[in-house]
Amino acid sequence: MTTSTTSAATPAASRDSNRVIIFDTTLRDGEQSPGASMNLEEKLRIALTLEEMGVDVIEAGFPIASNGDFEAVREIAKVVRDSTVAGLSRASKADIDRAAEALAPAPRKRIHTFISTSALHMKYKLQMEPEAVVARIAESVAYARNLVDDVEWSAEDGSRTDPDFLCRCVETAIKAGATTINIPDTVGYAVPAEYGALIRMLIERVPNSDKAIFSVHCHNDLGLAVANSLAGVAHGARQVECTINGLGERAGNAALEEIVMALRTRHDAMPYTNGIKTEHITRASRLVSTITGFVVQPNKAIVGANAFAHESGIHQDGMLKNAQTYEIMTPESVGLNRSSLVMGKHSGRAAFRAKLKELGYEEMGDNALNDAFKRFKDLADRKKEVFDEDIVALVDDEVGRQFERVQFVSLQVVAGSKGPQHAVLEVVVDGKPMPPVVSFGNGPVDAVFNAIKQAFPHEARLQLYQVHAVTAGTDAQAEVTVRLEENGKTVNGQGADADTLVASARAYLHALNKLLTKRQKTAPVAMSA
Ligand code: KIV
Ligand code: ZN
Repeated sequence: MTTSTTSAATPAASRDSNRVIIFDTTLRDGEQSPGASMNLEEKLRIALTLEEMGVDVIEAGFPIASNGDFEAVREIAKVVRDSTVAGLSRASKADIDRAAEALAPAPRKRIHTFISTSALHMKYKLQMEPEAVVARIAESVAYARNLVDDVEWSAEDGSRTDPDFLCRCVETAIKAGATTINIPDTVGYAVPAEYGALIRMLIERVPNSDKAIFSVHCHNDLGLAVANSLAGVAHGARQVECTINGLGERAGNAALEEIVMALRTRHDAMPYTNGIKTEHITRASRLVSTITGFVVQPNKAIVGANAFAHESGIHQDGMLKNAQTYEIMTPESVGLNRSSLVMGKHSGRAAFRAKLKELGYEEMGDNALNDAFKRFKDLADRKKEVFDEDIVALVDDEVGRQFERVQFVSLQVVAGSKGPQHAVLEVVVDGKPMPPVVSFGNGPVDAVFNAIKQAFPHEARLQLYQVHAVTAGTDAQAEVTVRLEENGKTVNGQGADADTLVASARAYLHALNKLLTKRQKTAPVAMSA
């Protein structure tokens, strides 16, 4: 395929026909996973991390979906300079106007508009005749193109669409001004040979296909999202839509880290380039996991805790003789560094700051840094070795907490077999220290959560309570995730501490504070793509 295009997002791609554009949709499709909702500050942190990592296009949200989504896209559009910021819209003027308004501050912006094209979706979901869908494609793309130069059009359920009809839709979209054509495998039904052939067929049969970049967007219902995406690239697609850790609707989207590392490691078999600095992968993965509370499975490719661990004697022996015996890529290539700075209780503020820099936390404000340093010193007093993972957990736990309405001060818990288990909790509410509350419960965690309810009465219901150890050892820090639900809204909170119960209280308060922020915002339209 020749990749001549007018897209503002793709200057490198238009010069190099083998350059693959990486389009990250963690903040849009990823956020659509049940329980993965993120607040504004968290979305900004992820967007800046993606930009630093070299992502070409960041899909920041679906502006008409809610005021929160609109605000997030707008704030991201204000701060992201190098990546193109995309906003999703259905094929209606109201959606497109809202997306354009949210994207206005971005130096590089893209409106991503979509409509279903499969017979099933047109009949049951849209209740529209095929001719009306074609007309709507022409109208919506032309309307978006009047507002911005860079317009992406997606054929929802594209992989299950009649090929002749899909060709007509694609041709119409390009004629109306679409610069990127995305063919989603919305329900994760395709298999690689078939999906690759579909992309090839479109490029060969659609008369104006050379005026646009073709894009793949694959869901993972059959575990084939990455394989399908790579098949699409092999057959001419030059944009891959993906998410960090494969986050996304149902079984998720194609994982960015797997796509990028497959392209890097097997450049011999897949001679395509991209702009991702792969050394940022581990940090981005941890950030998304911490913010969403979606723990990465240990054996997950590239970013799982065991992805570079060699346990068996035979493998360890081979590794010692030559790492390439069992390692096809180095841990360093994905940012898993063997640390140059070892931290302990004698480390001072300057060393702590240097360590944060090494771990990629350059943007921390002075107050957050001071609080994190204090907690690091406490941890170092209690724990023999402080690993990088401990510092990452602690810092992620600290960022943004200074602005929370209900803040943790202290906790004492009576636990054990004799009972009654009870918790004594002190919090600060809206800057005012509250008297300690004492609460009983069916076990220590229940007592802690009851104490929070007593200190700050609320109706939210607990949906998930999850603990995982940050490192090995009985003195490891616990990282706790709590999911709360109130009036159909779910939020995740995280807390880290060497004491599991303190981590639990911090995680619960984190989620509660997110709900309090959400309450202040109204959502005019609730929907999903
Ligand atoms: O999976 C899908 O079809 C989508 C589109 C809205 C691009 O996410
Ligand atoms: Zn999708």
